[in-house]
Amino acid sequence: MTYAEIRNNEEVCALLDRGNQNLGVLGFTDHSEAHCLLVAERAAYILRKLGYSDHVEELAKIAGFMHDIGNAINRTHHAELGALLANDILKQTDMPMEDRIAVIAAIGQHDESTGRSMDPISAALILADKTDVRRNRVRTKDAAHFDIHDRVNYAVTGTSVKVDPEKKTIALNLQVDDSICTMYEYFDIFLNRMLMCRGAAEMLGCQFRLTVNGGKVL
Ligand SMILES: [Fe+2]
Ligand SMILES: [Fe+2]
Repeated sequence: MTYAEIRNNEEVCALLDRGNQNLGVLGFTDHSEAHCLLVAERAAYILRKLGYSDHVEELAKIAGFMHDIGNAINRTHHAELGALLANDILKQTDMPMEDRIAVIAAIGQHDESTGRSMDPISAALILADKTDVRRNRVRTKDAAHFDIHDRVNYAVTGTSVKVDPEKKTIALNLQVDDSICTMYEYFDIFLNRMLMCRGAAEMLGCQFRLTVNGGKVL
């Protein structure tokens, strides 16, 4: 089982579609394949920069692409539900049992309400997922109907994640239009996620840094 195969897996794609539809009804930001591809690639980038093996990187990409399939069942506990769904799907493939367990362990820990990083794969998945803040995740077209999540995401006009293996830092650099959202609003929504990122960076032997418009925040 490879990342390329899981990206084209009919059932995984159908579950992601349904999950994204459900979250649309709930008024959440975009959780489509575009989000999952970004998370997969960003998780792999973090691990690659820190010298992890191609195999660990591949497992993180598979976990990254599948991580939000549980939203097809219910937003609440979507991480744990997604891990169980992923277990069923991956069991039907040639993936070795220990790899499957590593993937589902990461998926099951990725939500800030119940999870935390337990190993490098779950840490990279958390960092990749919680740093996906960007304007084009907002579905509502009419700014008059933005909720706080829409406003904060819409305010972010640029996002980059940089890993410095020498300095042992993982940095999230945001460009924020502060005429749209204040930093109070940003932290109102993202404080727990940023704390989760800090724990995940520590799991990878690094410090988490957050800069906004070039200024250090964390
Ligand atoms: Fe999620
Ligand atoms: Fe996600």
